[in-house]
Amino acid sequence: MTGLAKTDCVAVIGAGAMGAGIAQVAAAAGHPVLLFDARADAAKAGRDGIVAILDRLVTKAKISPAERDAISSRLTVATALEDLRDAQLVIEAIVENLEVKRDLFNRLESVVSHETILATNTSSLSVTAIASGLRFPERFAGLHFFNPAPLMQLVEVISGLASSKQVLHRLHETVLTWGKTPVHATSSPGFIVNRIARPYYAEALRLYEEQVASPQTIDAILRSSGGFRMGPFELMDLIGHDVNFAVTRSVFEAFFGDPRYRPSLVQKELVAAGWLGRKSGRGFYHYTEGAVRPEPATAPQYPAPTQVTIEGDLGPAEPLVNCIEEKGISVVRQTGTGLIRVAETSLRLTDGHSATALVSEGAPPNLVLFDLAKDFATATRVAIAQAANAAPEAIAAAIGLFQILGKQVSVVEDSPGLIVFRTVAMLANEAMEAVLTGVATPDDIDRALRLGMNFPDGPLTWADRIGGGLILAGLDAIHAETGDPRYRASLRLRQRVTSGRTLADPSHQSRGVTVWV
Ligand code: NAI
Repeated sequence: MTGLAKTDCVAVIGAGAMGAGIAQVAAAAGHPVLLFDARADAAKAGRDGIVAILDRLVTKAKISPAERDAISSRLTVATALEDLRDAQLVIEAIVENLEVKRDLFNRLESVVSHETILATNTSSLSVTAIASGLRFPERFAGLHFFNPAPLMQLVEVISGLASSKQVLHRLHETVLTWGKTPVHATSSPGFIVNRIARPYYAEALRLYEEQVASPQTIDAILRSSGGFRMGPFELMDLIGHDVNFAVTRSVFEAFFGDPRYRPSLVQKELVAAGWLGRKSGRGFYHYTEGAVRPEPATAPQYPAPTQVTIEGDLGPAEPLVNCIEEKGISVVRQTGTGLIRVAETSLRLTDGHSATALVSEGAPPNLVLFDLAKDFATATRVAIAQAANAAPEAIAAAIGLFQILGKQVSVVEDSPGLIVFRTVAMLANEAMEAVLTGVATPDDIDRALRLGMNFPDGPLTWADRIGGGLILAGLDAIHAETGDPRYRASLRLRQRVTSGRTLADPSHQSRGVTVWV
């Protein structure tokens, strides 16, 4: 089965931010497009807005004047719902309200033909629930674009309980011919991106609440060490805390209060204060004229060591050994459990335990933990934390070592899993839970997070590079030490590690995902 033909008419209902963007995408792909809005003049304003964008693209030589004229000529304003009778696909992007959407689709069903595919761009409502009043719910599915639709590559194709395989496949193929990347998810809270990205915000907020580090330090670590384009606090400030908090809350409530999705009290306070981020001039940062962004915690200069001892294999941190040797520091290798020794100081990659907990279980007293980096050779900053009773020389020796390797050092409070490791482990755990429950395939999850969130890597591929066993052991350690059920490992993560399979392994997909492909 193929996607829509270029001659097939696409109707878009709701000419706001999303509807106008989707109409532009469909018209640019060659379809005649009808744009309808209940508000007088909104559809015309939407069309004018698209034409203005096309004009700018001509000025920037991204499209030719002839292309602009062709795309504009395919965009028609519809003034009544009845005008949509010949549409082969209708995409709804109206207000996010279940009753209003249901009412619209019920009215629409008596206008369009039986073959017309009906799709919703909802970001948080159940696709199954929107379809429930329809006479032919099998022709209904979710088509979730990201903002701004013309620029964002990802589209989530969402199957409701009644959606037919044929309709889902047709939408999938159509999205491909529009030059976008479709991924499939079953109708479930947050679909893929809005669900699996939650720990990116939630763990940062929790670390801040636990006073492990300041927002600017957490942002700097996740950018310069984790490889993320934007830190979570600056990203939340950009999205708006009202919007971000509302999504978290809706996912939390839709999961019947599962602590995995628990919203943050700090963010609730921000919303209560009206500190919504960029749009209100203040969020975690200030955005008024001349406001200066606070600096992340950065340790002063300490002397570099002349010799280090590496005990055992450093696992994901093994590239550090090369970096140390390249700096002309003498390296002695010994057997052991994955430690870097600098004089009396022991440095170890976080394994999910706090440094203090490890010392209480027999680790050397002058223990300093360092956080995970996406790439230890190129990371420009690293977070470290020391055990409660470590000598002051211990942290100084650790700082001196990382500084000579060209990294700035942020000393943070001792905490289970630190910042990057805790974040990546929780992202991978959420992805495994979505795979377990048949929401999406590992492949689609990784693709969706890269394209929808601009993540430097898919969480499952990333976790596999670190090692699924380390991620699982790390989560178990964080869970045990915090006692917080949000850190409980997904059954699917445990199964994959026990059976020796990678987390991104595409085999043995869940029933919900395979029925339609
Ligand atoms: P918006 O507020 O910019 O536009 C909604 C438009 O729908 C308005 O022009 C309004 O007049 C019109 N409308 C409302 N009720 C209507 C009805 N009964 N019939 C016809 N038109 C009606 O909203 P936005 O941001 O474009 O969101 C639209 C949908 O897309 C929502 O379901 C939202 O959850 C979803 N979405 C939004 C994203 C975003 O970043 N803004 C991202 C992905 C999905």
